[in-house]
Amino acid sequence: MSLEPSLTISGLQVCFDTPAGKVRALDDVSFSVGQGEIVAIVGESGSGKSVTALSILKLIDMPPGRFEGGEIRLADHDILSMSEHELVKIRGSAAAMLFQNPRGSLDPSFTIQSTIEETLARHQPELSSTDVANFVEQCLRQVGFHDWQRVAASYPHQLSGGMCQRVAMAVALACKPRLLIADEPTTALDVGVQAKVLYQLRMLNREQGLPIILITHDFGVVRAIGQRVIVMYAGQIQEEGSVDEVLKKPMHPYTQALIRSVPEGAVSGEVLYQIPGTPPDLIDPPPACRFADRCEAVMSVCRRVAPQVTTVAEGRRVRCHLYEQPETANEMESVQ
Ligand SMILES: Nc1ncnc2c1ncn2[C@@H]1O[C@H](COP(=O)(O)OP(=O)(O)OP(=O)(O)O)[C@@H](O)[C@H]1O
Ligand SMILES: [Mg+2]
Repeated sequence: MSLEPSLTISGLQVCFDTPAGKVRALDDVSFSVGQGEIVAIVGESGSGKSVTALSILKLIDMPPGRFEGGEIRLADHDILSMSEHELVKIRGSAAAMLFQNPRGSLDPSFTIQSTIEETLARHQPELSSTDVANFVEQCLRQVGFHDWQRVAASYPHQLSGGMCQRVAMAVALACKPRLLIADEPTTALDVGVQAKVLYQLRMLNREQGLPIILITHDFGVVRAIGQRVIVMYAGQIQEEGSVDEVLKKPMHPYTQALIRSVPEGAVSGEVLYQIPGTPPDLIDPPPACRFADRCEAVMSVCRRVAPQVTTVAEGRRVRCHLYEQPETANEMESVQ
């Protein structure tokens, strides 16, 4: 497996200019996705997961959205410097997206067959009609449809939510993407169907080495499929590491609290833990640590000095004063 990343995001800053003020949606977001990797992004509502995903293909609404800094390298593309005209050509092939509501992303007036054919005509115009027919079968089989003819002949409203999500996956695969970005692909599905969709994603990753970014607020999903996990809070990455390490030994007090609030493992009748307070307003976020007001381990420095990302081991990063080298924290404090 090549170690060259398929995606590298460095120091990304995204804001939205709204009538109420400037929403600082992403602040200093940096991470990469290696070939063949599944990276899960987890965090509470409003933490910046979708803005991160949409930024990768420059799909945020501009205006009000604006890139204030940073770099996104997707394969050989410098995304932020590309024009809309250039981006249209690579969307779907350099990276494809799956959204929470699959029915919304499928055209209700076309059969699944026509939708996949139309996608193929745009992305692989060189295919002959026989190739196209074979490819429709291949795309639908890849996402687990053995009765692919019935699915191909159906309209979206004739399929269940889980089937629609797998069809959306098949349409995405028709573009031969080099990265799949799935934003809460199973949130709207019941648990059994969710397991099937996750299984298909894992198979695509294993069999084709397709790198996947999986956005979720559910640690159960992270555990089921992720290899590496990124924890976001209030527009920043707070912790990153392998799923095993982060779940077994979460370092950031926010990750610890998030894992404690997962219903799984709770004893019957036990009151579930809730993180006290609410996430900050991103128009006027706390000046130093954004989690300080809700943190059980808060120290005075956390309200004065913004914590920097500390690499505590290879691939293990955390943004918290608890893990900063004392000299770094002192230096930081003296320059504030
Ligand atoms: N078009 C927009 N205009 C103004 N603010 C926006 C816009 N899109 C996103 N935001 C803001 O950016 C922040 C991050 O939003 P984002 O959609 O990335 O959250 P999320 O982590 O995906 O949440 P959820 O789990 O609810 O989907 C939020 O404060 C949100 O209000
Ligand atoms: Mg979202």
